[in-house]
Amino acid sequence: MIISGKEIATDLKREMAVKVKELEAKYGRVPHLVVVLVGDDPGSVSYVTGKAKASEEIGVRNTTIRKPESMTEEELLSLIAELNADDTVDGILVQLPLPKHMDADKVIAAIDRSKDVDGFHPLNVASLWLKQPCLLPCTPKGIIKMLKTANVEIAGKRAVVIGRSNIVGLPVAKLLLDENATVTIAHSRTKDLASVTKEADILVVAIGRPKFVKADMIKPGAVVIDVGVNRDPDTGKLCGDVDFNACESIAGMITKVPGGVGPMTITMLMTNTIEAFETRMSR
Ligand code: GUN
Repeated sequence: MIISGKEIATDLKREMAVKVKELEAKYGRVPHLVVVLVGDDPGSVSYVTGKAKASEEIGVRNTTIRKPESMTEEELLSLIAELNADDTVDGILVQLPLPKHMDADKVIAAIDRSKDVDGFHPLNVASLWLKQPCLLPCTPKGIIKMLKTANVEIAGKRAVVIGRSNIVGLPVAKLLLDENATVTIAHSRTKDLASVTKEADILVVAIGRPKFVKADMIKPGAVVIDVGVNRDPDTGKLCGDVDFNACESIAGMITKVPGGVGPMTITMLMTNTIEAFETRMSR
């Protein structure tokens, strides 16, 4: 069975559109997300376009600020300071990667944590690990939401995450742990990776290598979540980290690329923007 992130996201966005209307009636304005893109990397342009489209679908106000690659770090930091101070801005997202002359860690830390709808600010990351209220990173949050919507039992299951990035691998492992899965974090240097992944009832793959997970790495009936966004070296098309055609018949449930985790990530960005708005308006 295929878990369609796209379909789940469509349903969630429909519910959110109703909620945004209610919030507008209650507070007199809609949530406002500001997306900052420095430079014109085609991948990043396509991501910010997707974020604007999702905002439009659910009625969230979106301002996309595009700046040239030549912008200095100081100029970006002063733009962030302005957005932090602006009471009409609920969410701030600085699209990554930033140009090489900028320190991305410093830029992310400059965003007001209550507006950090990416969940990348060090204080939001710390709160996640300390089980304190925070804005959760969108991809990990989207994966948990997807599993729950598909009625996948997480508690008591063995979960294996391949990948240990700050954005996906580590936080998704923590969220699975919080749902009472027993979690193993594997990576590109794990010895005999197949022996580890074959133990997984839930396998989350975020290693960034096209069609890396093959059929002989999966336990029959496992739930396989593919976070990869790669170009297939053979066809040039978008593909995941999992060899979908080889694994589909062995997995109990599996996500596809595109149409799997990606739409959930954008939807969770909308959820976070609404959450940040509600927190702001109710204090
Ligand atoms: N670049 C690729 N994915 C993301 C994301 O989720 N957030 C930001 N800020 N940049 C990205």
